[in-house]
Amino acid sequence: MRAEYNDLLKKAINDGEFTREEVIFLLKPEDDEKDVLFHTADVIRKEVFGDEVHLRGIIEFSNYCERNCLYCGLRRDNKNLTRYRLMPEEIIDIAVNAERIGYRTIVLQSGEDSFYTTEILCQVVRDIKDRADVAITLSIGERGFEDYRLLKEAGADRYLIKQETSSPELYRKLHPDMRYENRIRCQKDLKTLGYELGTGNMVGLPWQTVEELADDILFFREIDADMIGIGPFISNPHTPLRNFSSGMVEDTLKVLAVTRLINPLANLPATTALGSLDSYGRQKGLTAGANVVMPNVTTMKYRRFYEIYPSKICTGERPEACRHCIEGIIESIGRRVSSGYGESPKSLRGGKERCIMK
Ligand code: SAM
Ligand code: SF4
Ligand code: FES
Repeated sequence: MRAEYNDLLKKAINDGEFTREEVIFLLKPEDDEKDVLFHTADVIRKEVFGDEVHLRGIIEFSNYCERNCLYCGLRRDNKNLTRYRLMPEEIIDIAVNAERIGYRTIVLQSGEDSFYTTEILCQVVRDIKDRADVAITLSIGERGFEDYRLLKEAGADRYLIKQETSSPELYRKLHPDMRYENRIRCQKDLKTLGYELGTGNMVGLPWQTVEELADDILFFREIDADMIGIGPFISNPHTPLRNFSSGMVEDTLKVLAVTRLINPLANLPATTALGSLDSYGRQKGLTAGANVVMPNVTTMKYRRFYEIYPSKICTGERPEACRHCIEGIIESIGRRVSSGYGESPKSLRGGKERCIMK
């Protein structure tokens, strides 16, 4: 191993600050350095979170989307998708069932679908909070400050809205009808309103460079993210990016591990996209810095239509089967399912300092 690489890993263990050049260097381990990088991220994960893995049950409640992101199967111009919407009562029932089978966090995710007014969603959030003891994460895209405020007041705790890429040029190429500045504005508003903020990126996007990935990692730190979702880009044949190849599992693991080094307190999921590209993808993520998994709790009949990308895992399983499966995966690597809500350590301690929870 190169001495400079080893020095940077030691600096991470000691909670040091990193320059852009150092982050780029960390993202380019040589063959004999990769495992040490993953191991170092795993050591820091264990120091902050112990061996508990937090589960977030995701309800994919609508696959209608008014946006046209070039990479996504839910984009409005994709006519090759059967669209569905769950009614508020169905969403609430699924959330109550998710609590029954052991989830303490529910993620409500959809395309950008204005059918669900903020008023409707506030009522859904209130009803879930009345009937289930769960934290609620929303992942419904860009809305205004007042919408976010009302949803927080109704009881939403967290919000997941990935930056996807911190490069303004790449962002504009991939999102013809969206503004980079507005994406940032949403994340800042959510922080201001006291949400736990989830951001993140995709790895292996067309035209993406390693320098941009380093900037993503520094962006996560600057925005003070509580959660960071890092997944490989998976090429979807029903999108304009059909001719590009998918991102690599190993590159995604490198970005995940370096993100753990630079953002030690963030909740990092081993993403479904990682598990969809590699049958051991989530296990690999959990041993390279991740401490969260987000199994699907949506009713089986809708699952296969939330086709963001092809070969998505868990489309034929019932919520109970996924719950059982994921516990087995977690225990197989010597970890255990947490029974807590999995709050951000930053909100628990109210500070940015390294939090030793054990
Ligand atoms: N509409 C909301 C939004 O965009 O924030 C939430 C739903 S969107 C389907 C959730 C995530 O899916 C996005 O943040 C994006 O990272 C991911 N995604 C979309 N298309 C993808 C693809 N082809 N490969 C990997 N991830 C993808
Ligand atoms: Fe819609 Fe989100 Fe997909 Fe973009 S990533 S097309 S906003 S569902
Ligand atoms: Fe769904 Fe394994 S988590 S089948």
